[in-house]
Amino acid sequence: MKAIIINDFGPASNLELADVSVPKPGDNEVLIKVRSISINPVDVKTRGGKGAAGGIKEWPIILGWDISGEVTESNSGLVKKGDEVFGMINFPGHGKAYAEYVVANANHIALKPTNIGHDEAAAACLAALTAWQNLTDYYKVKPGDRVLVHAGSGGVGHFAIQIAKHLGAYVIATSSEANKKFVMSLGADEHIDYQAVNFEDELNDIDFVLNTQSAEIGKRSLAVLKEGGALISIASAITDEIAAGAKAKGIKASQTMVKSSGKDMEQLAKLLADSQIGSHVSETYSLDDMQKAHTSLESGRTVGKIVVKP
Ligand SMILES: NC(=O)c1ccc[n+]([C@@H]2O[C@H](COP(=O)([O-])OP(=O)(O)OC[C@H]3O[C@@H](n4cnc5c(N)ncnc54)[C@H](OP(=O)(O)O)[C@@H]3O)[C@@H](O)[C@H]2O)c1
Repeated sequence: MKAIIINDFGPASNLELADVSVPKPGDNEVLIKVRSISINPVDVKTRGGKGAAGGIKEWPIILGWDISGEVTESNSGLVKKGDEVFGMINFPGHGKAYAEYVVANANHIALKPTNIGHDEAAAACLAALTAWQNLTDYYKVKPGDRVLVHAGSGGVGHFAIQIAKHLGAYVIATSSEANKKFVMSLGADEHIDYQAVNFEDELNDIDFVLNTQSAEIGKRSLAVLKEGGALISIASAITDEIAAGAKAKGIKASQTMVKSSGKDMEQLAKLLADSQIGSHVSETYSLDDMQKAHTSLESGRTVGKIVVKP
């Protein structure tokens, strides 16, 4: 089968098209014919030797975690041959999603809603799970909460806005002016152009901040949070300075990591099936063009999600 491999950590030019054996599913695993893959910033970080690289011991590395496709072999009672499924496979382990076939733990996937295509389904895996787990588990958004989502136009942010609205929150999201219309179309109540103003000059009394950006933005976010509020950073550390500032103000600050979960995928499948949330796929590439897909992703300007077709 065709797969994209890397033989060494490095730039996008290290991504190579290769012919590799179709993997074999073990106990409680399924083999999936991949119809769509979605890519995430952690793919780029891992390609460079950071991100999830520490947990991967086997070379060459087949990057990627997000897929949607069709089960061709099943060793699990949860899904059967012919089922259309989607999920984030084995994160933060070796997902091996950049391929025509992938083996998945049956507990990492869910049935794909029939009202959406494979591109939209693949797009609603790692980024949507991150939003879901942070808004319903690590922090539990309640109706009326004032929620600030940094980078509402990105992969995680565009799901976080929709999920927070579904949970009854008042949602404020940041992006550049170019993406304001998109952010508001997702249901945000307010938009802040982070390039034109300092968000901390505009906001107060926030219950929950989802920080998808730097520790500096995490630190500045403390100023807008109310006592008893929560800051979660997914892309940067809770530094000693942030921890001290949070403690002084009675704010809970933590850094979280998304985890594979078929149960959470089922919750996302319900929301997608009911059109409570949707994936926005702004760019699509063929597997042979994975280098171009990575180059676009690492620009940091992605609107919604990028999908790759094997
Ligand atoms: N810990 C975890 O479990 C976890 C899970 C998922 C993702 N992450 C990390 O979270 C980060 C975000 O992931 P993602 O998939 O959402 O990324 P992404 O899709 O690449 O984000 C791109 C978006 O970020 C916006 N943006 C860039 N700089 C910004 C700023 N200073 N303020 C506000 N918006 C800004 C851009 O909008 P403009 O063009 O308008 O600026 C663009 O639409 C990545 O570092 C990723 O690795 C961590």
